[in-house]
Amino acid sequence: MRAAIYPGSFDPVTFGHLDIIERAAAIFDELTVSILNNTTKTPLFSVEERVNILKEATKHLPNVKIDSFSGLLVDYAMQKDIHVSVRGLRAITDFEYELQIAQTNNKLSGGSLDTVFLTTNLEYSYLSSSSVREIASFHGDISQFVPAFVVEKVYEKFGF
Ligand code: PNS
Repeated sequence: MRAAIYPGSFDPVTFGHLDIIERAAAIFDELTVSILNNTTKTPLFSVEERVNILKEATKHLPNVKIDSFSGLLVDYAMQKDIHVSVRGLRAITDFEYELQIAQTNNKLSGGSLDTVFLTTNLEYSYLSSSSVREIASFHGDISQFVPAFVVEKVYEKFGF
């Protein structure tokens, strides 16, 4: 069985992430979307909230599982016996950072974890969770960037 992990912060999940999830789910037999529990950052949504949001947003995809992890991606992947990590590349600016992480993960895993890059659909190449958070903080329109049920949850976080 071809299994892969799509790790990330997903704070919040955007249409860009969902595009990658749908395409990766069509390539792999099983895709585990896993949210990093990053204790050094204060996220907008808790890990539990993000798990629930991602479950709702991917409920039409039977081979997609939602999970979370702490610590190193390689440790989590090896524990799950998954050997492919999926990441989206939006633009050349993502490349250097992603290449560094991919190579570090490959080295750390002794060659057991490879990274597969999917190029983000051009429609979403400008999109990031951080810009969604910033626009929402000023009560700007984020409906083109995240699913409708997420729009409401993001606004609630900013007290709108
Ligand atoms: O959505 P993001 O914030 O760009 O995702 C980054 C993520 C979660 C994929 C990356 O930070 C990660 O895997 N962190 C876990 C710690 C780790 O394994 N780091 C890699 C060695 S540099």
